[in-house]
Amino acid sequence: MTAINAVTDLTREGDVAVITLNNPPVNALSQAMREGLSAALAQADKDAGAKAILLICAGRTFIAGADISEFGKIQGGAGFKEAQAAFDAVGKPIVAAIHGTALGGGLEVAMCCHYRVATASAKFGQPEVNLGLIPGLGGTQRLPRLVGVPKALEMVATGKPIGAPEALSLGLIDEIVPGDLKEGALAFIKTLLASGKGIRRTRDLQEKVTGDFSAVFAFAKGQNMRGFEAPLDGIKAVEAATTLPFDEGLDLELKTFLARMASAQSAALRHLFFAERKATKIPDVPDDAPTLEIRKVGIVGAGTMGGGIAMNFANAGIPVTILEMKQKALDHGLDVVKKNYDASAAKGRFTPEDAQKRFGLLTGTLKMEDLGDCDLIIEAVFERMDVKKDVFGKLDKIAKPGAILASNTSFLDIDEIAGATSRPDHVLGLHFFSPANVMKLLEVVRGAKTSKTVVATAMKLAKTIGKVGVLVGVAYGFVGNRMLAARSNEADKMVMEGAFPWDIDAVMVKFGFPMGGFAMWDLAGLDLGWVKEESHGETLRDLLNEAGRKGQKTGGGYYDYDASRKATPSPVTQKLLSDLWAKKGVSPRKIPEQEILERQIYPMINEGAKILEEGKASRASDIDIVWLYGYGFPAWRGGPMFYADSIGLDTVLAGVKKYGLTPAALLEKLVAEKKKFADL
Ligand code: COA
Repeated sequence: MTAINAVTDLTREGDVAVITLNNPPVNALSQAMREGLSAALAQADKDAGAKAILLICAGRTFIAGADISEFGKIQGGAGFKEAQAAFDAVGKPIVAAIHGTALGGGLEVAMCCHYRVATASAKFGQPEVNLGLIPGLGGTQRLPRLVGVPKALEMVATGKPIGAPEALSLGLIDEIVPGDLKEGALAFIKTLLASGKGIRRTRDLQEKVTGDFSAVFAFAKGQNMRGFEAPLDGIKAVEAATTLPFDEGLDLELKTFLARMASAQSAALRHLFFAERKATKIPDVPDDAPTLEIRKVGIVGAGTMGGGIAMNFANAGIPVTILEMKQKALDHGLDVVKKNYDASAAKGRFTPEDAQKRFGLLTGTLKMEDLGDCDLIIEAVFERMDVKKDVFGKLDKIAKPGAILASNTSFLDIDEIAGATSRPDHVLGLHFFSPANVMKLLEVVRGAKTSKTVVATAMKLAKTIGKVGVLVGVAYGFVGNRMLAARSNEADKMVMEGAFPWDIDAVMVKFGFPMGGFAMWDLAGLDLGWVKEESHGETLRDLLNEAGRKGQKTGGGYYDYDASRKATPSPVTQKLLSDLWAKKGVSPRKIPEQEILERQIYPMINEGAKILEEGKASRASDIDIVWLYGYGFPAWRGGPMFYADSIGLDTVLAGVKKYGLTPAALLEKLVAEKKKFADL
């Protein structure tokens, strides 16, 4: 065996030269890997005894992409062209053997090879768009030559990976190896050599990129990207594969890749990639802290939240018992879950049998004692402290020793709830976001007495059920809703100065949010937390509620909705608001877009700074993750705290003062020290 360098080995097995890459944890294609690979290819090519070359990776996966931590630092062309040329210079067949994930640069390296075999569970994708990039190692030119233009466009523009069976049917791979990957790959090579088929460079395959694809590209370019630039750049690069000679296509791709790498959008998305992984690390809880096993889950409440939460566990194969007070409510709750599963099966997300299996993991009950053998019980009942405390007091009596009791409250004090039990160390908040089976965020709320084992268990569980868990402290609204409240307050103030709700929403949508705050209220229900007896008709929300306009569920709220739930500004709302202005003696003024934007984003940032100052979030980047996955903050802006750093904290502070908000002490301190949130 020859060690080419620290991450590359070259061996001979019979008449096959075997290159093994080993760069844990995910074989990221670092500079050292690219150099090692090029050198190994040249050496194997010269080896007269080797008739073919096998490229395989050690560890858990094939190359999972370029080394993201090197981005932003690499210079010039990054040796990307040279790396591809090293493949093209080889005069014998090169076969890639793929397991795990061949993503980004990994898939591109595989496509530089002449043939590809893979395990049945392998996945293939060009996820660069998720980092605000486009492929840079020939992906936009080689992928359409293998899988065809429409599929390549989809993969490059959305970043979604495909599985091995689809890859085989599209022609991206040549064989699925059922048993040991290396043995299978060597057998494939044996047959290949015997067949007399020689090298087959992807660059020479023209069949799938010849023809008129103008309609496909016109359609793709017409998609609304809400300010996100990378998809369109990716589309243009794939288009080049159909209009330009291969090498010119490569040049265009590399030029675009380098420009994208230097862009603010990519910096923001790279920040989020690492932020998401950092969020799993808890400063005072080691990665290998002991955790409890969660084999069975109980849920109190079969409403929209309870049902959605239950689906997460059933989807992960964990049985769930759902408790309701009345048979009718229980039946209704389970029926909604069943319909959700059937709808997903109808959309092809999984098979009808799978839907049945998942639903089969749910059991309904009217008796609290039936939750006695659960390892975790999540309460999702009415959002009122006395109700929650009553439920927790009762749960404490029937839950087995060591069981975790969690509340799905979105605002309330977990410590007070924990105080209703004899096990405050086993109580925490698990704040799911609606729809709970869809939204990726889980705020894990750590109470004053929550044990480290319980915290570690909850963070691990988040991953098991496909959520991104972010640890937060006890505070009214925790991280997300607390910042949302700061934003909503300012929005309500602007409404009382002359802005219509849709004026404010439009600015948020233009900024990149999927919807504005008022449209969000319409979705959630305007009566959420609204108490009729306490209403004095003093706000627009009061008036809408009193008029029975409670949001989408009543056909209208701030907006009117048609049968397909399309929102239009409501003349009723407009009249109510105009009357309210008149009653209050407000002479409405048109608030400029920039002012709306500043008064929506700065209060959030200021509140985020207070959260950090109080230690309710471990780091600024955790707040960014909360806003990304809980509220649809435009990813390419990196989250509110990253955005604040990028526009300058002095600008934010000046704005906060200008609009009469109380600045967070931390914000003032950072500005005085000329620091950023990222420096904390
Ligand atoms: N470059 C540098 N580091 C990478 C990396 C990359 N391309 N991909 C993963 N890592 C690191 C992670 O930061 C993490 O480091 P940590 O343990 O210090 O936090 C570690 O590898 C494991 O990654 P993780 O995501 O926790 O593992 P996973 O098994 O859940 O997922 C992948 C593995 C490969 C699916 C996932 O990491 C991924 O999607 N990576 C990015 C792939 C990509 O976008 N490639 C294109 C780059 S242009």
